[in-house]
Amino acid sequence: MDGHSAHASLAGDVPLLEMRSVSKRYDGRGRALSEVSLKVAPGELVAVIGSSGAGKSTLLRCVNKLIDCTEGEILFEGRDIARARGRELRHARRRIAMIFQHYNLVYRATAIENVLQGRLGYKSAVAGMLGRYSEDEKRRAFEALDRVGMAPFAYKRADQLSGGQKQRVGIARALLQEPALMLADEPIASLDPKSSRTVMELLRWIATELRVGCLVNLHQVDFALEFSDRVVALKAGEVVFDGAPDRLTSATIAEIYGEAEPRGAVGPTESAESVEAAAAPCRNAGSCPVEAVLEAGVA
Ligand SMILES: Nc1ncnc2c1ncn2[C@@H]1O[C@H](COP(=O)(O)OP(=O)(O)O)[C@@H](O)[C@H]1O
Ligand SMILES: [Mg+2]
Repeated sequence: MDGHSAHASLAGDVPLLEMRSVSKRYDGRGRALSEVSLKVAPGELVAVIGSSGAGKSTLLRCVNKLIDCTEGEILFEGRDIARARGRELRHARRRIAMIFQHYNLVYRATAIENVLQGRLGYKSAVAGMLGRYSEDEKRRAFEALDRVGMAPFAYKRADQLSGGQKQRVGIARALLQEPALMLADEPIASLDPKSSRTVMELLRWIATELRVGCLVNLHQVDFALEFSDRVVALKAGEVVFDGAPDRLTSATIAEIYGEAEPRGAVGPTESAESVEAAAAPCRNAGSCPVEAVLEAGVA
């Protein structure tokens, strides 16, 4: 077993995040999420996989309260935030950080100014608007940039950074929030293989070393297998798999991504090694779209 899985099993009994039968229906439509239940422990990295439209983004938006779920409970540190308002909501938002596929940086601002925005939840609106940050906050922002290898770029404008560098600034900003839970919506979908790996290694480090729970939407199955403690697969808004990456078979992957019959000689008892092997052709490329895993399974 690799180090990080062993580590996660030591996590406390109280889940950091627990979703209980959460459903979401957008106006006049079917359910985008259907009775989703899952848990994230401190220090655990949970990957959410599923094809486009499966409900991955909806799930994260319900947790960070960009949208309200229609039914169910979302317990964060033991308290239901599904219907939280006001002070309770602000407290939860502060402790739940988010990183995005498209970084969501202020491009005319420098890297360090972007990172400092991670403190906004802790300041009055006026102090935040005026960009009033203490020396201590500035020092911490610099340290966060240093942690993600971006200290030399602290005073560079965000629009002059590469995609991978922008995402690292996004991670530093999230860290400045001192989160208990980190949400990431397809954080590597726009990145080259090398930057993708750097970002996943940072998320892994944040989970293992800082004991932050990470809930990460990923399209790249091989990265989910390599970096997560647990994989939750969504299909049409429902959880169709929840378990350790080494229990995710090619047959299950095929089912998740809508194959009527798994292609090639893949059976339900197939071992993780064969899934790894199926993903292997993508390993060098660093990023493995699902289709490639399925293709590899045919051979
Ligand atoms: N704002 C919205 N209004 C209506 N329907 C939406 C909205 N956002 C997403 N959906 C629908 O909800 C389902 C899940 O979408 P989404 O959560 O974005 O999936 P994913 O992130 O896995 O691609 C899809 O059918 C999508 O069309
Ligand atoms: Mg999405």
